[in-house]
Amino acid sequence: MKQDEYICRCMSIDYQSIFLAAKRGIRDLDDLIDWTGAAKGCGTCINALNAKLEKAINSCNITDTQQNKFPFA
Ligand code: FES
Repeated sequence: MKQDEYICRCMSIDYQSIFLAAKRGIRDLDDLIDWTGAAKGCGTCINALNAKLEKAINSCNITDTQQNKFPFA
């Protein structure tokens, strides 16, 4: 993985990790930090983590809605 693909470079956290956290029910930044270990270095990634968590939550909601419509797909 390229270094610039990490949302949190200090702790090597990428969007996939954030998306998985959202899929498991993480809904706020503090829980994301606890669950992934992100933002425990320089801390400059906080705003980006928050934005990506919001995006991931929205993606999960779309996916959940689609799964509810097509439960056997
Ligand atoms: S980039 Fe996330 S703690 Fe440094």
